[in-house]
Amino acid sequence: MARPLTATIDLNAILQNYRYAKKLQPTCKAFAVVKSNAYGHGAIEVARHLDNEADAFAVAAIEEAMALREAGIVSPVMLLEGVFEEYEWKLCEQHGFWAAIENTQQLNWLLASQVNIEKIFVKLDSGMRRLGADKAGACDLVKKLRESNQVGDVLLMTHFSCADDLSDIATMEQLTYFERARQEIGTIEASVANSAAIMKWAIPEGGWIRPGIMLYGISPFAGLTGQQLGLAPAMILSSKVISVRSLKKGEKVGYGLSYEAAEDHQLATVAVGYGDGYARHTQSGAPLEVNASPAMLAGRVSMDMITIRFADASQSFEIGQEVVLWGGSVPVENVADYASTIGYELVTRMTTRPRYQYHTVSEIKS
Ligand SMILES: Cc1ncc(COP(=O)(O)O)c(C=O)c1O
Repeated sequence: MARPLTATIDLNAILQNYRYAKKLQPTCKAFAVVKSNAYGHGAIEVARHLDNEADAFAVAAIEEAMALREAGIVSPVMLLEGVFEEYEWKLCEQHGFWAAIENTQQLNWLLASQVNIEKIFVKLDSGMRRLGADKAGACDLVKKLRESNQVGDVLLMTHFSCADDLSDIATMEQLTYFERARQEIGTIEASVANSAAIMKWAIPEGGWIRPGIMLYGISPFAGLTGQQLGLAPAMILSSKVISVRSLKKGEKVGYGLSYEAAEDHQLATVAVGYGDGYARHTQSGAPLEVNASPAMLAGRVSMDMITIRFADASQSFEIGQEVVLWGGSVPVENVADYASTIGYELVTRMTTRPRYQYHTVSEIKS
């Protein structure tokens, strides 16, 4: 049998989640954020499925935007970090890309290139201190862009640092700073919200939302799964049992012999490892499912294989049994907890080794 590791992606789930984001913020247009290969789900396949419906796509860099155009995607594409080099502005004009601007170098390159760009999002640093100009700087960027007559529409954007923590007042402070900048500018459309803000915060009416992780049915909030938030998880990562043995109490397993059987039980080896994106530091006990029965990781993750056991030590394995690594009734957020990370990272660090299968059979619930 060919190596059985498969990522099965439900494209309708992604479309449904996009519609859900828009339903939550009905006055807003929405970018479908497909950067980093659509968070590991396949940017081209996802964008093709959403192209008729998405108001626009958002990516991190021009290479990702060009890949979408080369695949025939016609919707507008926005560069969330803007350009890194001057020549990119010509490509933006040629391919109808929109971009963020956060500094005067990006502005001066735009002016020098004499290109016409449909929409520019001036990025305000409202407190995250990663990208963006301060209030005075952002107001100045807006003024110069408007005066240039090279830009159809200038908007103001910001990004939240703590929107996933509902008890943190940082989001309120960022919103207040953002609104002050807007008042200083006068009339300007806004773009502030990532998935967490779309789902749980009161954000400005109108303008553009930027859902990323929620499109893929994954929760941005600790302790909550996508399903619990009403999202439709889009990826099932599955593989098969390729070897089976019996362990006696006290026998040890795998690199570093880090797992020790606390009782007699069977052990199965499964074709998936950190070379595929299953995080090496995932701890024994991480949830899995075999033939609809709960199972768990037992031992250190190798490059191509893991070892697992059933939760119920009396159950036995067979070669060829299907193993769900995450997705379905094994939320990726719960696996991420055992790897001291977040669902975002597990799906985004998937490699090209798994077989990717796309389907659109699931019904879209409104
Ligand atoms: C500027 C910007 N907007 C929106 C998003 C989407 O965020 P999320 O995936 O949390 O919805 C990101 C992701 O990092 C981002 O950098």
